[in-house]
Amino acid sequence: MTGAGALISPGAGPQADPDELPLREDLAGLEPYGAPQLDVPVRLNTNENPYPPPKRLADAVTSAVAAVAGGLNRYPDRDATALREDLAGYLGHGLTGAQVWAANGSNEIIQQVLQAFGGPGRSALGFEPSYSMHPLIARVTCTGWLAACREEDFSIDPDRAASIIQDARPAVVFLTSPNNPTGTALPLGVIEAVCDAAPGVVVVDEAYAEFAREGTPSALTLVPRYPRLAVTRTMSKAFAMAGARVGYLAASPELIGKLLIVRLPYHLSAVTQAVARAALACAADPLASVAALRAERDGCVSWLRAQGYTVADSDANFVLFGQFADRHAVWQALLDRGVLIRETGPDGWLRVTIGTPEEMAAFRSALALVPDALTPDALRPDALRPEGANT
Ligand SMILES: Cc1ncc(COP(=O)(O)O)c(C=O)c1O
Repeated sequence: MTGAGALISPGAGPQADPDELPLREDLAGLEPYGAPQLDVPVRLNTNENPYPPPKRLADAVTSAVAAVAGGLNRYPDRDATALREDLAGYLGHGLTGAQVWAANGSNEIIQQVLQAFGGPGRSALGFEPSYSMHPLIARVTCTGWLAACREEDFSIDPDRAASIIQDARPAVVFLTSPNNPTGTALPLGVIEAVCDAAPGVVVVDEAYAEFAREGTPSALTLVPRYPRLAVTRTMSKAFAMAGARVGYLAASPELIGKLLIVRLPYHLSAVTQAVARAALACAADPLASVAALRAERDGCVSWLRAQGYTVADSDANFVLFGQFADRHAVWQALLDRGVLIRETGPDGWLRVTIGTPEEMAAFRSALALVPDALTPDALRPDALRPEGANT
């Protein structure tokens, strides 16, 4: 036999060793990323809204999907024009559809930003501890990662941030506000100082913005002033639509124009666009849970502090607390009692997502039962109780 067919005939050579698959060298040794998805009674580990979409919203979503079902033989609007108009209306601040872009979750938005503005020979900078997907997406887009440190209280000092950026000159800077996993919200002055110092694009990741205290300013107010600023948001958190996979960004139309170069054609399905628009039309319904979650969060912070734990101030729907000599053992002890939280953040800390009152009661009971030997030194009953006392 002659020709290419002979060269690629299957089964002709030895079986390929799966360990020898030609993965990029820079990805060797990496494991797929993801929080454990365990089937336990109380799941407080991925910062979702614990309240399912209200019935009115679920019905609206069902009708919207039914309405597009008959047209699924056609590709969707690849510019998601109507959805972007709706998202601009939801965001307010005088934003228009041309200043908004949407994708499958804000993780995809971040990936598009790094594909367009990062890449080989360029670097992105973040202030850690922060959202671990920023360096991970940098890595898979071949963008170098520069890790700067937050202050002891997890804030960012504007002068120090500006000087770090002026020295490092990254192509992309990430600021997360409220920050995951610490819950820290940034004052606008920090964002302005970073935008003034940055030579490239500044991303303010506001995935948890709706949970911030009244009066906390959003970086959205700065979008008209800074053409290289991108503010990312998501419907996965306050909006109770994590399963729908909708994230979006507000930025100048010029910056969005560059993202169109890297986005896959028709990246956002007609079903996703319809679902998101239906949910936005009843925005008040899912957002009604935000006030309850904020109150539950503040209660959780007070309770943890009353127990003697160190707790970071939180403007989000989760709380970072510690500090444990062996946080994994504490995480496991809670899991053994059916409560899944997240082992993340600086060593010694754990993060709990705010759930329903019942879920938070289960968390408190489980934490109270964590063996004394695992609690921080200062909290050990034998350090507080007279010798020989028993409980
Ligand atoms: C800070 C931050 N940004 C972005 C995301 C990604 O959200 P999604 O891709 O669901 O929109 C998360 C999810 O946990 C997050 O914590």
